Amino acid sequence: MTIGEALKWGIKKLTGSGVDPVRGRSPQGDRSTAFGGAASNGVDSPALDAEVILAHVLGVPRAELYIHPLTTLLPAEAATYKILIKRRFKREPVAYITGHKEFYGMDFIVDKSTLIPRPETEMLVEEALKAVKARNTKTLCVVDVGTGSGCIIVSLTKILNQISRHKTLHFFATEISPQALKIAKLNAKRHSLADKIVFRKGYLLKPILSNLEKTVPQSRLLITANLPYLPTAEWRRAMEDVHYEPRQALDGGKDGLEYYRHLFEQLKSWRGIKKFANVAVLAEIDPHQVNEFTTLIKSFFSRASLSIKKDLASLDRVAIAVL
Ligand SMILES: C[S@@+](CC[C@H](N)C(=O)[O-])C[C@H]1O[C@@H](n2cnc3c(N)ncnc32)[C@H](O)[C@@H]1O
Repeated sequence: MTIGEALKWGIKKLTGSGVDPVRGRSPQGDRSTAFGGAASNGVDSPALDAEVILAHVLGVPRAELYIHPLTTLLPAEAATYKILIKRRFKREPVAYITGHKEFYGMDFIVDKSTLIPRPETEMLVEEALKAVKARNTKTLCVVDVGTGSGCIIVSLTKILNQISRHKTLHFFATEISPQALKIAKLNAKRHSLADKIVFRKGYLLKPILSNLEKTVPQSRLLITANLPYLPTAEWRRAMEDVHYEPRQALDGGKDGLEYYRHLFEQLKSWRGIKKFANVAVLAEIDPHQVNEFTTLIKSFFSRASLSIKKDLASLDRVAIAVL
């Protein structure tokens, strides 16, 4: 079987299977396109998926497939390719098949314990960087709660270490899933940041509160959070691909805001919060949750200033609350 033949076979196999595009589909994103009943006639990308899988098997960049279409696959390569195409046919996300996902221009290891990083989450990183640049504090603590693959904290640590050399920076990440935390640590190591980020297993902010209390008074605290925000009923209705991802990463309880509610509860009852000059929470939300999220935050912090940023699809995506 040549590369060209393999691609044709893979595309044919995946065509009509209702697979999702490798990019752009956002199970935590726009609910109108990402969920409700799109499973059988979703936007397919069999060609892209077959290419990505074949390039992964051969260990070459995707573009190279078209430079050498007549090269014959080794029997072991052909066999592996067929197995992986069959996994995709059963709706397993491509990122779990290849074990990788690009986020903010960096490569991240993913497995079934981690959410697959979404393109819209890159906005959270963008906004966090803008928030840091806008305020000139010498000491900054960044905490990523529910770090998953570590995509947010690793990207922020990498960039802030490059652009804010004069600042004292502390980076923390928490995660409830031990296996996901392992992957996040691996990703930090891969990007040579293992010694720069403190990873802790536990419930939201709890495992790092004592670390935060030890930092310099009047520091600035920036919390990034992409917590599970799908209402349970919606998670149940989600497409098959989404159910490959951990429920713990997606199901946000009855109204989808259970974890954000607990996060604000923790912050409100934490006495250490007073030592910080400024506390900002940047949260990724579902575009349909803006009103409920606003009410929620005001119920804990009545004087918080809140702004909502839109993503590239013009959907409300990141809430920035300065407490
Ligand atoms: C939506 S995923 C986001 C993962 C990653 N931050 C990203 O943006 O790709 C939410 C993450 O929060 C974790 N999580 C859920 N409940 C948690 C809790 N109570 N405390 C800490 N982490 C939690 C999940 O295991 C999951 O990794």
